[in-house]
Amino acid sequence: MMNPKELAGKRAVAFVESGMVLGLGSGSTAYYAIREIGRLLKDGALRDIVGIPTSRETERLARELGIPLTTLQEHPCIALTIDGADEVDPQGNLIKGGGGALLHEKIVARASEREIIVVDESKLVPFLGSHFLLPVEVIPFGWNICARELERLGCQPTLRRGVQGPYITDEENYILDCIIPPAAELAPLEKEINNIPGVVENGLFLGYTSLVIVGSPEGTRTLSL
Ligand code: A5P
Repeated sequence: MMNPKELAGKRAVAFVESGMVLGLGSGSTAYYAIREIGRLLKDGALRDIVGIPTSRETERLARELGIPLTTLQEHPCIALTIDGADEVDPQGNLIKGGGGALLHEKIVARASEREIIVVDESKLVPFLGSHFLLPVEVIPFGWNICARELERLGCQPTLRRGVQGPYITDEENYILDCIIPPAAELAPLEKEINNIPGVVENGLFLGYTSLVIVGSPEGTRTLSL
């Protein structure tokens, strides 16, 4: 049986062209896309690619594969980003940040002309928050005040734990995993959350997605948004 994440990740690489500046997503589905890009570069089927990784883990993987890396300062315009998601609604809005990389992922998504999301079918939901909590990245100073404010919004935050103490993001922040209050409108909620002093970013990705590629044991399909 074929691995749905591998099928989706590899399918997305069909959209990569030589010479592109690429955003390299994080997680176990984007992993397959990055590996495929590395393979095509090695074979010479792709040339002159530079990648901007969205996490330390992805940076390590890309280096291992010999994918040349760059920064947003050198290349502020990204032609295409391939990334995973934790939930995808029928409009292509996302919850991201299960792996803790939401901040860099969202900056990279904002800088990208196209954002291709690669998922297996388990990520497709009728509305965001169906299965997954919404990660909110906060600075450690006064994180409990952020938590109190999120509580007031009805988000029931829980501090994400790591191996020892709180989970720490690549930017050395904490994550509060929140529920999306029933009947909340997503765009105002995103703004209200980010308006709390100490909140750096939240994992709602609204309107960033250009294409969703869904992998299943039978193959891949794209979502029309
Ligand atoms: C990382 O912070 C997340 O946004 C990932 O993109 C997300 O968790 C998807 O990962 P998987 O493809 O491993 O499910």
